[in-house]
Amino acid sequence: MEKFIIEGGNSLNGTVEISGAKNAALPVLIATILAPGVHTIRNVPNLRDTRTTKKLLEIIGAKVTFENNIMQIDTTNCDNPVAPYDLVKTMRASFYVLGPLLGRYGTATVSLPGGCAWGPRPVDIHLSAMEALGAKVDLASGNIVATVDKLVGTEFEMRFPSVGATGNMLMAAVLAEGTTIIKNAAKEPEISCLVDFLNETGAKISGKGTAELTIEGVNELHPVDFSIIPDRIEAGTFLIAAAITQGEITLKNVEPDHLGKVLEILEQVGAEIQIRQNEIRLKQENRPKSINAVAEVYPGFPTDLQPQLIALLSVAKGNSRVIDTVYNDRFKHVPELVRLGAKIAMDDNMAVISGVKQLAGGPVMCPDIRAGAALVLAALVAEGTSVVDRIYHIDRGYENFEENLTNLGGTIRRSD
Ligand code: UD1
Repeated sequence: MEKFIIEGGNSLNGTVEISGAKNAALPVLIATILAPGVHTIRNVPNLRDTRTTKKLLEIIGAKVTFENNIMQIDTTNCDNPVAPYDLVKTMRASFYVLGPLLGRYGTATVSLPGGCAWGPRPVDIHLSAMEALGAKVDLASGNIVATVDKLVGTEFEMRFPSVGATGNMLMAAVLAEGTTIIKNAAKEPEISCLVDFLNETGAKISGKGTAELTIEGVNELHPVDFSIIPDRIEAGTFLIAAAITQGEITLKNVEPDHLGKVLEILEQVGAEIQIRQNEIRLKQENRPKSINAVAEVYPGFPTDLQPQLIALLSVAKGNSRVIDTVYNDRFKHVPELVRLGAKIAMDDNMAVISGVKQLAGGPVMCPDIRAGAALVLAALVAEGTSVVDRIYHIDRGYENFEENLTNLGGTIRRSD
């Protein structure tokens, strides 16, 4: 298994180009199934998860090429409506095929994802959304088997504004008969990107960026040339990397509007921030200040940056509290950070962090993508050498991570 060997102590300075957003790319790539023909999707990050999605599309019957961050997908013959366990277990987002397969073929067999590194992560909202549109949903040999003659529009209120279930329902509803209204829908920019993609293919969705999406079903969709939005989580990770090492960084190709709460929190921590169109500059001159923060659904502070924020606050002056309201049990990074000298106590879904002046390098293990990124950030500021194991998690979500960090002045290398 590959590891990162990191020598801590350098501050990070320089410029990073931000990639396309993984969590926007995955549903858009999968949504191409709905519109037969050849699609060109640009600004697709070259990551393990996008390569897994390519495999998934190929299993379903699409012809796919992926070069220079452009995925060309021919969905003319997608005649195998199946997402097998081997792929779903490595990438939960494979579950996104349920809606489009039902929409185009009226049948889908999708392996049930099961739990993930930080908890059970159910899919009940996805399934009740498909049932509300008229599908029959059964469980057979660990697979969800869904069938329908014709999906029919409906009004559906999500019990929680799930990103995945909103995307799945959107993709199912665009070809349904009549009008669908999704209430308490997710407002994340990745969902708005999916709405833009679907509307360009000929779908009729209104209410983008709000908690109520209205979809008027259409008979068919057509292929398009489309570009993925910048990755706000990758951007936030690099901003926190500069803040934790008291450096100065410029991010290019970002969408500052998607990072409002993140920039607000980083300013509270003491960072100086300047915004210019698609650029963000951050400078952190002193030890971070302690703060209280809550990870919430968009436009709140993202749960996908909660681990990196806890890493930052572990070297802050004073005591901080971080609550996660999206995932109650997403704190597998905490015991690993404690191994590097952080002082963190858990109280249910709240981390209570007593900032220390200095972390000390050591061996740690990535529990998942973002927790892995948080450990790398902590190792970059810790004294001495850290070995960060199981970095295949990080490879799911960060393109050229160690090259980017090296260019900024970090000492990090990959080893077998
Ligand atoms: C997406 C992101 C993930 C991010 C999360 C929250 C992708 C590929 N992944 O995941 O990085 O952390 O949004 O911003 O885009 N829930 C249920 N039942 C369901 C669905 C969700 O109880 O059927 C719960 C989850 O357990 C969780 C909460 O709802 O507590 C939010 O999950 P959701 O928004 O669905 O996350 P994902 O779409 O899986």
